[in-house]
Amino acid sequence: MKGFAKYGAMALMLAAMTGCGDKGGADKAAADGGAKAGALTIGFSQIGSESGWRAAETKLARSGAESRGINLKVSDAQQQQANQIKAIRSFIAQGVDAILLAPVISSGWDEVLGEARAAKIPVVLLDRQIDTADADLYLSAVTSDTVEEGRVAGRWLVEKLAGRDCRVVEIQGTIGASLVANRKKGFEEGIATAANVQLVRTQSGEFTRAKGKEVMEGFIKAEAPGSICAVYAHNDDMMIGAIQAMKEAGLKPGTDILAVSIDAVPDIFKAMADGEANATVELTPDMAGPAYDLLLAYKKDGTVPPKWVQTPSTLYLPDNAAAEYDRRKDLY
Ligand code: AHR
Repeated sequence: MKGFAKYGAMALMLAAMTGCGDKGGADKAAADGGAKAGALTIGFSQIGSESGWRAAETKLARSGAESRGINLKVSDAQQQQANQIKAIRSFIAQGVDAILLAPVISSGWDEVLGEARAAKIPVVLLDRQIDTADADLYLSAVTSDTVEEGRVAGRWLVEKLAGRDCRVVEIQGTIGASLVANRKKGFEEGIATAANVQLVRTQSGEFTRAKGKEVMEGFIKAEAPGSICAVYAHNDDMMIGAIQAMKEAGLKPGTDILAVSIDAVPDIFKAMADGEANATVELTPDMAGPAYDLLLAYKKDGTVPPKWVQTPSTLYLPDNAAAEYDRRKDLY
């Protein structure tokens, strides 16, 4: 026996051994006429805590579960796909009612999601997509349009420059994650019409502040003094690190080098209020809330959710940064 069949059978054997194979399965719940909100147990395979945004997503997943009477089990994968696969197998063995997965990278999920499907456990993807030829491996995905996020950032820069020549450096997120290629592609599309804007360097900062700082230090050293005009970072945390690098190099972030990033975490609003960052594209950290709601409806009466629940990508500028900081600081 190989591939899907082998792992499907293994999952079923494991489920039978733990005596909870069909417990809470989507079909059974629907056939039972719906599970009570309080009865649902959901396993959440979270990537880790690389950024402020990620920590907020976990926090909101916990509070959203509590307010809906859902029993949530969170597993922190510490950036390792192998840990996520292990966690999913453990959730299957425990007979959870559903699984939330924030996939660290986009490839390599078919086998384990096939096991979840064989155990009739619906999976909802959060904030990142996966590469698969079999879209039935997951019930729904709650994500933003990650290409559009890049476009919004790129278009903002083109408009801000108003024809001025600009050499841009880019700090990418974790290589292999669906949204990183998309945020890059979108940004390139956003600047494509402007011959005055040139992307000159790109490197991964792995979505962390420390790495973002390190990468920006490298860019500053590698480029002739005064020749970097803007930095585009795939998340705000890396931008906060880059801002630190610019300051340590005697540059004025936000003035000498324009700064545009993605997430809209409180610290970037603080930086904008201080004149050290220029724009951010919001990614809501409340990804679990819509996932819970669609799972509750699915379990109640079999309502099939949309395959993609799209969250908005709103651009924020410094004009109301102080107020936005106040509004968000306790949410994170
Ligand atoms: O998948 C969402 C991204 O992951 C966020 O933009 C980033 O901050 C996080 O780590």
